[in-house]
Amino acid sequence: MLKSYLKLLENNKTWVAEQNSIDPDFFSDLAKGQSPEYLWIGCSDSRVPANEITGTKPGEMFVHRNIANMVVHSDMNLLSVLSYAVEVLKVKHVIVCGHYGCGGVKAAMGNKQYGLIDNWLRHIKDVYRFHSKELDAIVDMDARERRFVEVNVIEQVLDLGKTSIVQNAWKKEQPLHLHGWVYDIKDGIIDDLNVNLTCTKDLHSVYHLDNENDHTK
Ligand code: CO
Repeated sequence: MLKSYLKLLENNKTWVAEQNSIDPDFFSDLAKGQSPEYLWIGCSDSRVPANEITGTKPGEMFVHRNIANMVVHSDMNLLSVLSYAVEVLKVKHVIVCGHYGCGGVKAAMGNKQYGLIDNWLRHIKDVYRFHSKELDAIVDMDARERRFVEVNVIEQVLDLGKTSIVQNAWKKEQPLHLHGWVYDIKDGIIDDLNVNLTCTKDLHSVYHLDNENDHTK
């Protein structure tokens, strides 16, 4: 068990040989650069591997993962990934993909203290508060948890739209679509929650950001 990591290095050698046998130019082509069409924001959960469940290959998807697929507007990691993906790579689609059975969402529903992670879970608890009327009314706890996963994804998509990064891209008429998906660990199926945002007008006006220094008006 101590050396279980060695298996990974062995697997890597096998994978390299396989790729080279399928396409001798595979690695030299990838080394030239990347132009992925998609940015994936998903959960760190080991059961939700972004490329595998979407059938995408190296070079096709820019990926950011954290606990419960959150878009936290003070998270430099998320913002840097989003900025690079939108402004430099010019991805056309940003996908927030949550998943049923999410440990982060489940923990955020409860009151147990977990330590440092409680500070991260706070962001998810805020989503519960926004939707508490709907969520509290769901008596079945599994159903409530599933709906919480869904509304959390919807809120993260809205949070993407609130960023200056996304709004400036829209202002420049750069094609950029935001999507909210949910993956079911039990059957492997991804459902589209149809929260597609394509322009600033889809957001509450308080979140609209103008380029001009209109604070002086
Ligand atoms: Co999760």
